[in-house]
Amino acid sequence: MSSETIQTLQWMGDHTGHLTLIDQTLLPTELITIDCSSVEAVWEAIKVLRVRGAPAIGVAAAYGVCVGIQTLDLTVCSPSDFTQRLTEVTEYLASSRPTAVNLFWALDRMSEQAQRLLDSKLSPTEVAAALLQEAVAIHDEDRAMCHAIGGHGAALLDDGMGVLTHCNAGGLATSEYGTALSLFFTAQDQGKQLKIFVDETRPLLQGARLTAWELLRRNIDTTLICDNMAAQVMREGKIQAVVTGADRIAANGDAANKIGTYSLAILAQHHGIPFYIAAPSNTFDLSLDSGEAIPIEVRNDEEITHGFGRQTGPDGVGTYNPAFDVTPSELIAGIVTEKGIVSPVNRENVLAVLQS
Ligand code: MRU
Repeated sequence: MSSETIQTLQWMGDHTGHLTLIDQTLLPTELITIDCSSVEAVWEAIKVLRVRGAPAIGVAAAYGVCVGIQTLDLTVCSPSDFTQRLTEVTEYLASSRPTAVNLFWALDRMSEQAQRLLDSKLSPTEVAAALLQEAVAIHDEDRAMCHAIGGHGAALLDDGMGVLTHCNAGGLATSEYGTALSLFFTAQDQGKQLKIFVDETRPLLQGARLTAWELLRRNIDTTLICDNMAAQVMREGKIQAVVTGADRIAANGDAANKIGTYSLAILAQHHGIPFYIAAPSNTFDLSLDSGEAIPIEVRNDEEITHGFGRQTGPDGVGTYNPAFDVTPSELIAGIVTEKGIVSPVNRENVLAVLQS
């Protein structure tokens, strides 16, 4: 592990332990971890974006199941008590945020594993211990997928390129290393010098607060711009590729990501610049035919009118705050996964790469 590696989430102890995570709402000025010892604390951390980014939300939810079942007295609980509590916990965690499919994927995986073990007549204590192992496996697999994404995607980036990214798809959004940012970190390890432009990403500034912070920790050439500057910066010839993460990708390759991503993809097409998505296979939702069916989270007004301690809109003004948008597959030059690159982006190629 290099000194710059960030441990976004960590489990402390055995199945009676707790989840510790970096409180991302405090960055870039404070790097502080908080302990989550109840499912309510994990839910709140996801809801208010102390932990955020699709893969990290999935890992947090898996550990959330482990703390959620700690309210059971395992010495006396029956398999049906166990199942009932598990259902309460997973339904509750599933209500935290709607868009990132990794959350639901992780909860389903935990529930299926619990059911298998209960059906095999393991004791509740053994099931609780095995569920922690499952959460750790989800965490470890995410780490490996992020590194593999960088391995495949770095080839898309040449020495000296200017690359634009949006929101935060770095180590903080995953177990470590990131998805979009893993391309930059791997390219850097290969000796390529990139010039990364970072959209600040209104309204919650994940680009400014988190991505710029991560890139600077790795001594990557980083330039922060406001979201509305992207067209001009492209026109000036400073950008040769755009790379972002994703929260949910439909079977045809339409990809939901942080609000503002869709407009970047349109701008990139206008300027003849390739637009790439980097995401692990568990960000695909093959049950959805196209991006139209992806649920888009709408967050509260205050994020727009009272961001970061200052009122920036008049009292009584109406707002609309969708947190994500969907980029149609035809605007995406490639989707970099841990299994390889989907390109051109269409239903057949999505399936071919995911099944490889
Ligand atoms: O609202 P957030 O900060 O959770 O949104 C995060 C993003 O949109 C990321 O780009 C996405 O989850 C990919 S993270 C590897």
